Amino acid sequence: MKNSVTGNTQHLVILTGAGVSAESGIATFRDALTGLWENYDAETLASEFGFRADPALVWGWYEWRRNRVLRAQPNPAHYAISQLEKKLPKLTLITQNVDDLHERAGSLKVSHLHGSLNKPRCLTCDESYAFPDEVLPNATSDRESRIDPPRCDLCDGLIRPGVVWFGEQLPANAWKSAEDACRDCDLMLVIGTSGVVRPVADLPYLADKKGASLVQINPIISGLNGVANFNLAGKAGEVLPELYAAAFPNT
Ligand code: OAD
Repeated sequence: MKNSVTGNTQHLVILTGAGVSAESGIATFRDALTGLWENYDAETLASEFGFRADPALVWGWYEWRRNRVLRAQPNPAHYAISQLEKKLPKLTLITQNVDDLHERAGSLKVSHLHGSLNKPRCLTCDESYAFPDEVLPNATSDRESRIDPPRCDLCDGLIRPGVVWFGEQLPANAWKSAEDACRDCDLMLVIGTSGVVRPVADLPYLADKKGASLVQINPIISGLNGVANFNLAGKAGEVLPELYAAAFPNT
């Protein structure tokens, strides 16, 4: 490895996907049987077209997911990442996840390239919408519950989930920062992503091209296996605490 987490890493980039939250009980997208798209066409649930066609189905699905996240807790992987942030000179955390488990584990700056379940906005005028204070959202535990989306206070438009849908651009500033970080880092950890959704899937290749070491943590083989300098086959919630303990044995 050109650098190691233990020694002289100056800038660590961590890219996470759904796998980092799997041990918190949040389903991944593409894993058989538990996948979030099980029984659904992804375009129906994750596109403006699908939302306009059936707002209650789509809003209800996102409320079901938000409900799941509210009930979930960060797992040891999220905590190990937030601890690494305190130990290293520079750490950039980039996630494809729309949950807030990194933040709740103590990570201070999280770049959400695919948006956030907690940041809905108006489909018409883009005004942000704040969920009412409630212990849990009104979604049931039923993933097929239909819930009418709220209306915008300003223009009465439909409120849409604050996530990036198929066919939409990633948030421009977050994307530029992610690219810059990948060009600058000396080590990149890629954790719990199938690496098939572009353009985020391109980031490890950018870091590799610029000379960074790549380490992947994933229980199964992904497209990155041939590129990564190390493939740590295992669950993030087990591998990351071990990695942290090996890197910082006295803390
Ligand atoms: P996927 O569901 O495609 O992949 C999840 C990955 O996590 C797989 O490679 C699993 O092997 C791995 N995995 C499962 N359990 C794990 C564990 N305990 N520890 C580590 N890894 C584990 O999810 P993403 O790659 O995140 O986009 O999907 C990328 C994007 O696809 C999502 O952000 C979403 C979807 O389209 C949007 O919604 C915009």
